[in-house]
Amino acid sequence: MNAGEVTVKHSITFMLDGQAHTPPPFAPDTTLLNYLREHLYRKGTKEGCAEGDCGACTVVVADLQHGSVRYRALNACIQLLATLDGKALFTVESLQHGKQLHPVQQALVDCHASQCGFCTPGFVMSLFALYQNQPNASRLQISQALSGNLCRCTGYRPILEAGERMYEYAHAFPNDDLAETTLITTLTQWAQQPHSLLLEHDGKRFCAPTSLGKLAILLERYPDATLLAGATDVGLWITKQHRDLPTLISLNKVAGLDQITTHAGWLEIAAAVSLEAAFQAIVAHYPSLRELHERFASLPIRNAGTLGGNIANGSPIGDSMPALLVLGARIRLRKGDATRELPLEAFYLAYQQKDLAAGEFVEAVRIPLPNAATGLLRCYKISKRFEQDISAVCAAFHIQLDAKERVTEARIAYGGMAGIPKRASHCEAALSGQAWEQASVTAAMKALEHDFQPLTDMRASATYRMNVAKNLLLKYLLETTGESVSLYATGVQA
Ligand SMILES: Cc1cc2nc3c(=O)[nH]c(=O)nc-3n(C[C@H](O)[C@H](O)[C@H](O)COP(=O)(O)OP(=O)(O)OC[C@H]3O[C@@H](n4cnc5c(N)ncnc54)[C@H](O)[C@@H]3O)c2cc1C
Ligand code: FES
Ligand code: FES
Repeated sequence: MNAGEVTVKHSITFMLDGQAHTPPPFAPDTTLLNYLREHLYRKGTKEGCAEGDCGACTVVVADLQHGSVRYRALNACIQLLATLDGKALFTVESLQHGKQLHPVQQALVDCHASQCGFCTPGFVMSLFALYQNQPNASRLQISQALSGNLCRCTGYRPILEAGERMYEYAHAFPNDDLAETTLITTLTQWAQQPHSLLLEHDGKRFCAPTSLGKLAILLERYPDATLLAGATDVGLWITKQHRDLPTLISLNKVAGLDQITTHAGWLEIAAAVSLEAAFQAIVAHYPSLRELHERFASLPIRNAGTLGGNIANGSPIGDSMPALLVLGARIRLRKGDATRELPLEAFYLAYQQKDLAAGEFVEAVRIPLPNAATGLLRCYKISKRFEQDISAVCAAFHIQLDAKERVTEARIAYGGMAGIPKRASHCEAALSGQAWEQASVTAAMKALEHDFQPLTDMRASATYRMNVAKNLLLKYLLETTGESVSLYATGVQA
């Protein structure tokens, strides 16, 4: 073996209840939920929707982050078993300690927070991740941790109360420090022996290369392969569309693709960074995007999914794109050794058509850091539910004003209004050079009719979409001129 070369493994190993566990050969598109229920007979993890929506299948996956353990709630129904290699898995059965209930479970019992119980294991696991990560979480943090869990019969008040009370039972529960030390030791040893994965079974394969070079070779060898990041879209192709995906190539082990860096005025987020980590970094620089962060899917989906996947998928209702478009984000594409960079708006050509060659992939997204020219930024998501819902319309606004309150630059973009996430060029032109006031905004609202001819679908009618798109611009004016207080909904769920 040459220096720097890593081995290739043909099986996966992860920690389960303190023991290293190696599954027997399995189909590369096997979901974690199916493996748990059908092979390990761990039936505590339930199947509800099989599409990441209800949280009945929530498990906790732990890995190392800067030397300490990070616990993440994930949806086992759309998580692929193969992606567990080198990590630790906790299911609801993992929490048992003889006949003693875990503090999370005891709190749920004492608060009468379970009725039919089907959703309960998922709630237990979301709260367990919070319990492990965060001593004494606030009610808002508890609510955010439960954003991916639906309960249809008990009601959320007792469940939230259980989240507050679970810490009170900690002293009566055996100390877990030894188990955590063992976990850190094992995960550290594994991290020090990186390896690529090549799993083959029944004519299907799963590859997880460790370097950009190996990734390029694989993409050339398997031009029809499906690139896999967090699987929050791809997982549904398997569970709902029953698509045949003969070759999956995962980005998750590629060195460097999990990095967030700031350099020369840019925030750079690489392709395998989770949505949750990406949004935390973005909101640290642009606090007005906090509501977008909190309302994007749910915590388990943001823990698994990536910003790169959202951009690459390029759905017309993808929520990150309007904000990235108005911020002037750029993406770096890579094919083999060759890279090219383009503004995000140049990436989307038409519905489901992108400027992406065969074998090319999104390596990173680059977002300008705030500077003196940064204007008034807002993003509004319109959907029926606060969290875990698809947008009918998502709008982002970013204008700059001169000393006389005239618009020097307007960047306005919408999702849900066209076949691609798109800037509203007529609306922008109508505002440019105008006073930032009602009369110019009224004209700009009218101009939106030249930018978009939205569709009617099950989420909203075309008329509703157009009216909402116009009214969001008015809302933006009123908020930024102090005519109305911010109507952000963040925090109301607590
Ligand atoms: C329950 C649920 C709720 C959701 N809510 C929202 C929401 O509120 N807002 C929203 O916008 N989306 C939402 N989504 C969609 C999804 O979570 C996002 O699109 C996510 O960002 C996809 O990222 P991923 O890493 O999971 O992509 P994957 O599923 O791994 O891949 C998605 C697609 O992109 C390709 N791909 C992935 N990474 C790259 C790359 N680096 N280069 C080139 N191609 C790549 C894959 O081949 C695939 O075609 C939701 C999904 C679910 C299941
Ligand atoms: S079964 Fe509903 S989220 Fe997984
Ligand atoms: S207790 Fe029945 S769905 Fe939650």
